[in-house]
Order: sequence, then C-alpha cells, then structure tokens
Amino acid sequence: MSLTMTLPIHIPVLLKEAVEALQVEPGKRYVDCTLGSGGHTMAILEKSLPGGQLLGIDTDPEAIRIAKSRLADYAESTILVNDNFANLETICEENDFLPVHGIILDLGISSLQLDTTERGFSFQHDAPLDMRFSPAQEFTAADMVNVLFEDKLAQLIRDYGEERYSRQIAKRIVEKRPINTTLELAHIVEQVIGSRRGKIHPATRTFLALRIAVNRELKNLDIALTQTINCLNRQGRLVVISYHSLEDRLVKQFMKRETKGCICPPGTPVCRCGHMPSLKLISKKVIPPSLDEIESNPRSRSAKLRVAERL
Ligand SMILES: C[S@@+](CC[C@H](N)C(=O)[O-])C[C@H]1O[C@@H](n2cnc3c(N)ncnc32)[C@H](O)[C@@H]1O
Repeated sequence: MSLTMTLPIHIPVLLKEAVEALQVEPGKRYVDCTLGSGGHTMAILEKSLPGGQLLGIDTDPEAIRIAKSRLADYAESTILVNDNFANLETICEENDFLPVHGIILDLGISSLQLDTTERGFSFQHDAPLDMRFSPAQEFTAADMVNVLFEDKLAQLIRDYGEERYSRQIAKRIVEKRPINTTLELAHIVEQVIGSRRGKIHPATRTFLALRIAVNRELKNLDIALTQTINCLNRQGRLVVISYHSLEDRLVKQFMKRETKGCICPPGTPVCRCGHMPSLKLISKKVIPPSLDEIESNPRSRSAKLRVAERL
C-alpha cells in the first residue's frame, strides 16, 4: 500500500483557481510557502514542466517528510525547506532561487495536522494541549493557558478568536489551572457558554485564538507578505488563501497598500514616505470556493483567495 493511502490526506483548497491565478507556465519558478501535503505544489509542478522549479517551505517537519514522499517523482524540480515562511527572502537567497514568477500561501492548518490527535489542535479527541506547527517552537497552548495573566488571556481570546465571552472564559481557565489537555479546555469553555451555539462547537473560537497565538500566525504572515515584494519578478503573481477574517483583513490591507503610491497620513502637505506602488490587484473581490467544492470538502467553506501581480 502506498504511503498516501495510509495517511489522512489534505485535500487542496481552491486548487484550480490558485493555479490559474498564479498563471503557471513551463520553465518558470514558483514558491509554495505552505507546502502541507504538497497538493498545490504538485499541481503547480505539473503545469510548470518541462523546466519549471518549485521551492516548498513548511515549518512542520512532518509536512516536509510527507510531501517529500508524495513529490518523489518531481525531486529534480523541487527544493523542500523546513523553515518558517517569515524567512522567505533568506530562504530564496540561500537556495539561489530569486526572482520567482509566483508565490502561494495557503494559510493555517492542514487536515493532516488537525486530524493527528496528539498534535492537540482538535477538541474532538483528548490529547496534550500542544498546537505548535513546529516542535522547535518554545511555547505550547498549555503553556499559554497556564501562564498568562487573566486579562492577557482574555484579550488574546477576544482579539484572535473574536469570542464574545472571552473574559468569562479566561476567568474560568485561571480558576481551573493547570489545564493540560484539549478536552479539559473544551469542557471549561462549554461550562462557560453552554454546549450549543449554532452549528459550531462552543470551543471553536477559543481553540482558534490559541492556535493563532502559539504559532504567531498573523505576525509571520505580515513579515512574509512584505518579503514577497522583493522576491517576485515583474508580473509575478502573489496568491493567498486565507481561512479567517483576521488573516484575510491583513492580506487585503497589504495588497491595497502596495497598490498605492504615497501612503503618508491624510493631510500631510508634502510626501515624506516615498512609497511606490509595487502591486496591481488582479481581482478586486475575493475568490471563494464553488458550492460543489464546499459540498465535497466542507473544510474549504471559509476559504478566500486573493491575487495580485508585481509591477
Ligand atoms: C493549509 S496547509 C497547506 C496545504 C497545502 N497547500 C496542500 O495542498 O497540501 C498550511 C500549511 O502551512 C504550514 N504553515 C503554517 N504557518 C507556517 C509558517 N509560518 N511557515 C511555514 N509553514 C507554515 C502548516 O504547517 C501547514 O502544513
């Protein structure tokens, strides 16, 4: 039995749309900043051969291991790097991989990570409260819930989880410390806000907030987006797929800012910023998954694709 048949495989989201948006062509060079199981990478490689090359990055060594095996047939055209995409420019420089014709970020978590119980991302099964994308990271979600001051915890759950009951949840967490497992935390949240809340589990927002904080997701995204400008060739495409509003807002604001010249505060008599436009928006609106895709892969339902082109 092949390796791919024994593993819960991640179904790539907005695959056709992403490859189209990247305008993949034979002989060109692409970076997949979020390799995962290599779904987008494989489709990009298939379209970029002969002569195309792809640099794949993932902070999770397990993702690199799995993608390497799945992409074995393309080994000569791929470079896989276990690192954080916040180091995008350095990674490209070190691998003599500049400039590139397209960069894709398919943000967040893979099904593989979510469905691996012991990674501690899911409240469906009991496991240590970990949530790190990379084992090299210092702090786990358990460290956060057990160490942070109550007001800091409440702020984190409110800001990253957009959770209405953040203060009450943080208070109960502090009362119940130490909390070491996913189900302990899920039950605490459930006690605070009840077991039913529309279609989503009551702990969904708290878990999302902790995951974002543990992995510094917004900070890393912000850093990486800025670096894409220095990596892209003229007319190179930047494609970003995001899954929650905070990520999407960051991507939207970044792309909008980079389409502008002067970004001095309104009313500044003479431009001091010297900012030059570096991107052109290819699609003003986000590209969502089709109803067919949502039906066949419900995890795609919150996805939003944005695309811009380097000037
Ligand atoms: C949604 S999955 C990507 C799935 C992939 N497109 C596929 O088709 O299989 C997101 C991946 O990005 C990785 N990731 C998240 N944040 C990262 C970061 N800051 N640097 C590098 N990889 C990151 C995660 O480990 C995960 O494997």
